[in-house]
Amino acid sequence: MAKDKSLFVCSECGGTSPKWLGKCPSCGAWNTLIEQVAGSNAPANNRFGTQFSPLAGVSELATLSEIEATDIARTPTGIDELDRVLGGGIVSGGVTLIGGDPGIGKSTLLLQAVDALQRAGQNALYVTGEESGAQVALRSRRLGLDHSQVQVLAEIQLEKIIATLDATRPAIAVIDSIQTVYSDQLTSAPGSVAQVRECAAHLTRFAKTSGTAVVLVGHVTKEGALAGPRVLEHMVDTVLYFEGDTHSSFRLVRAIKNRFGAVNEIGVFAMTERGLKGVANPSAIFLSQHAEPVPGSVVLVTLEGTRPMLVEIQALVDNGGPSPRRLSVGLDRDRLAMLLAVLHRHAGVACMDQDVFVNAVGGVRISEPAADLAVMLAITSSLRGKPLPKGFIAFGEVGLAGEVRPAPRGQERLREAAKLGFSIAVVPKANAPRKGSKEIEGLTIHPVERIEEAMDVVRRLD
Ligand SMILES: Nc1ncnc2c1ncn2[C@@H]1O[C@H](COP(=O)(O)OP(=O)(O)O)[C@@H](O)[C@H]1O
Ligand SMILES: [Mg+2]
Repeated sequence: MAKDKSLFVCSECGGTSPKWLGKCPSCGAWNTLIEQVAGSNAPANNRFGTQFSPLAGVSELATLSEIEATDIARTPTGIDELDRVLGGGIVSGGVTLIGGDPGIGKSTLLLQAVDALQRAGQNALYVTGEESGAQVALRSRRLGLDHSQVQVLAEIQLEKIIATLDATRPAIAVIDSIQTVYSDQLTSAPGSVAQVRECAAHLTRFAKTSGTAVVLVGHVTKEGALAGPRVLEHMVDTVLYFEGDTHSSFRLVRAIKNRFGAVNEIGVFAMTERGLKGVANPSAIFLSQHAEPVPGSVVLVTLEGTRPMLVEIQALVDNGGPSPRRLSVGLDRDRLAMLLAVLHRHAGVACMDQDVFVNAVGGVRISEPAADLAVMLAITSSLRGKPLPKGFIAFGEVGLAGEVRPAPRGQERLREAAKLGFSIAVVPKANAPRKGSKEIEGLTIHPVERIEEAMDVVRRLD
């Protein structure tokens, strides 16, 4: 292997070393040297950090209004929920990173997608580094993709993969996964930051020059995804993440970044024996079934992309020790600490000596602040040991001053809740239908402006 072409560069100070060292010889920082191909980051010879070449001319400029604005051509994959997160379909020359826990369904979804594209006449190449060709074939039979014409390449060496891609020029190529691919130019092990970054950069360059749409599969590692997809997010056009509890059958695919479409749009799938099937009306899948209402449970109407969804928020407040615990699953822990402080200060609900656990049911991750009110009501319900009434929903952001702020698109949320048979809502005043305007049938709405008011409403409902 050509070992002399690589160089180790410190991510702190930019200092270099011809071989790997635990400590940077320039700045003394530990574990900061990352391997690079020499030349890709050659020493600068001017103050802008770039090299001048006597042969380099000045590049031509264009006036913005004179550049022809061509709309991006997209090819739908034929899997509606995937097309929804992609913003309509795959884009020629676009690079998509798809991340998620092992076993969540990345390979399954992509195999289904490339097969659908191949059937629609787009040449597809599936590069597998994790599994053998036989294993991929076995999966395709299980998914019912008989007679699939998708080309499979079992290879992990970048240079060979690029050469094959260049020779065959498929419309779409899937690299499963980027962590298994390695370049000969580097001595680092496959899966290391250096390898993952270098290989992804080469594949991105190939996509841009050839017009092949490239999909990179990346694992999120438990240890904060250091060598995982995170280091690639800025390089690619679209970043999709799989969410969901591997123990339940539902999976969400969320767009975190999309240069060709809306972010935070989600696709909802159910894992079945025959692969991932889109769920067209997913608003009620994250509700657990209680015959009678139980303390500590509140249904939140959240907005995922453009779709309102109902998610059960559960809280358990229990006697804690000298340093009580605050734990959250699917919700932000810092936000939970803040909400507990607001509850104490403005509504007189004290949890100082209690353990507080909150959970969003179904492994879904909720990042919008409109979950605040539901979380606070679930906590007080658990603390008091009193359930909320049957058919109860809530949403709204709560500020540090105890004010309840409106959530975006409140009317849509309320209509979706009414459609699913919910009958009582506590919501921000600004989200409630105005006096004189049309009411939402079947839904009694209690508008609130402050957290104390929300607590009063709930007590009156007992
Ligand atoms: N025979 C089967 N029947 C139903 N589901 C299966 C079967 N085999 C595997 N699966 C599902 O497929 C998932 C593996 O998906 P896969 O696409 O390989 O995940 P990833 O590529 O994200 O690691 C498993 O977690 C399981 O839910
Ligand atoms: Mg896989």
